Amino acid sequence: MATVEVDQDLCVGDQICASMEPEIYEMRDDGLAYVVDGMEEIDDDDLIAAAKDAADACPVDAIIVEE
Ligand code: F3S
Repeated sequence: MATVEVDQDLCVGDQICASMEPEIYEMRDDGLAYVVDGMEEIDDDDLIAAAKDAADACPVDAIIVEE
């Protein structure tokens, strides 16, 4: 199990996360990324790996994935 969070205080709206993994991350009207409803806690190994890939790609390290 992993928890996924986006720190909107750090996010600069780069959109890499949402374009890489739209199942997990979405852009909202404020121009910032959020975790898609229901994806704050994920069990699936492939999804956890995908969440981490996007976290690694974020230029400002605004995404926190904790196992
Ligand atoms: Fe924001 Fe990083 Fe995604 S800056 S939009 S959390 S890639």
